[in-house]
Amino acid sequence: MTEVIDGDAVAERIRDDLRDSIETLADEGVEVGLATVLMSDDPASETYVSMKQRDCEEVGIEGIHVEIDPDAPAEDLHETVADLNDDPDVHGILVQMPVPDHVDDREVLRAVDPEKDVDGFHPENVGRLVAGHARYRPCTPHGVQKLLDSADVETEGADVTVVGRSNIVGKPLANLLVQKAEDGNATVTVCHSRTDDLAAKTRQADVVVAACGVPEMIDGSMLSEGTTVIDVGVNRVDADNEKGYELVGDVDFESAKEKASAITPVPGGVGPMTRAMLLYNTVKAAGRQEG
Ligand code: GUN
Repeated sequence: MTEVIDGDAVAERIRDDLRDSIETLADEGVEVGLATVLMSDDPASETYVSMKQRDCEEVGIEGIHVEIDPDAPAEDLHETVADLNDDPDVHGILVQMPVPDHVDDREVLRAVDPEKDVDGFHPENVGRLVAGHARYRPCTPHGVQKLLDSADVETEGADVTVVGRSNIVGKPLANLLVQKAEDGNATVTVCHSRTDDLAAKTRQADVVVAACGVPEMIDGSMLSEGTTVIDVGVNRVDADNEKGYELVGDVDFESAKEKASAITPVPGGVGPMTRAMLLYNTVKAAGRQEG
């Protein structure tokens, strides 16, 4: 029987633990605070940010939300980030990506105080992660590690094929999995759009992580029996329903499930974990700043 890994349930357990930590901090007079900044009118980004704010409320984190007109100059965003850097009630700052084209996203990531960079995207935090002493693990890669752990999938000595080389998922996840650590010690192959014979690389893997942003690109024919499949993809595809779209992953779930020993669904797999690990990093940030 293939195990369908329940990301909602794992995320709920993580939130339960966090509620305890948040209460302990509150007893010490610390109210954990997360600021989200949105400079976009993209409906998907608006939805993601409002879900993050709702998550905060649900676990007892003080959420602050700042919206900036997407047509405003880049300085407006930089001023907001500078104010949040200086605000002692704000322990974590998340600037929702992407920002408009006239804003240099790398400058924005550099502007966030690395101690408050709960995304883990600041170059200092990227460097620390690569060197093996991450301050904050980026939320999606950390969520993937937690899901593997929840399904008792050993990474030590495992062949893991990561499909996708983004700065948000593929690269940090490959770095984390290869590290000398309990949830690392894997042999990692990183594939991308220019990879020759992708199916050969996915078929040789004990674990396949799909994070390429192409709807249902990985199907059962590309997998060996008994593979663990983690689907990071969230793709909106046209559908004949009320919303006019549905969410599908980077994996063709039905055919992959025939081969996999364990697989994450979309939605309800990696997505809830990304959100839970943001709360985790925010609580960690509060502990570091107030400790
Ligand atoms: N846009 C898509 N994913 C992310 C994320 O993890 N963090 C931020 N800040 N923006 C995103």
